[in-house]
Amino acid sequence: MNNKEATLSIIKPDAVERDLTDEIKNIFIQNNLNIKDSKKIHISKDEAAEFYKVHQSKPFYNDLCAYLSSGPIVVMILEGENAVSLNRKIMGATDPNKAENNTIRKLYGISIDKNSVHGSDSQDNAKKEIDFFFKN
Ligand code: CMP
Repeated sequence: MNNKEATLSIIKPDAVERDLTDEIKNIFIQNNLNIKDSKKIHISKDEAAEFYKVHQSKPFYNDLCAYLSSGPIVVMILEGENAVSLNRKIMGATDPNKAENNTIRKLYGISIDKNSVHGSDSQDNAKKEIDFFFKN
């Protein structure tokens, strides 16, 4: 079976600020996800609002957009077998308190907001999110 996919990963401001970028990248590599592209950027609040617009009706939307634009982030294209679901497994549950042992969010997450990483939740969203950050 061959189901090579690409997904978008973001290392969020809390993890970039604590110098966890290389450690997190190594976790992806050790779990057979190839980092096809990577860049460190600092987005505006308007760009964060566009990226997270699926959450615009949620009570946490404003804080979420303020947070993602609060400092540098690292955006990456991860490639591999079943990359979308594999990345979500490696990240762990959204709330670090509920994440399984040895997941990125359990290891490094501080709170549900400062949960260190974002990953696309479906192949459709992966395509959209990759285009958002990497389309010229
Ligand atoms: P992420 O995977 O980046 O997708 C949306 C983010 O909203 C999520 O991670 C969390 O960091 C953040 N968030 C804040 N509050 C909540 C909540 N109550 N439920 C889900 N996500 C939340």
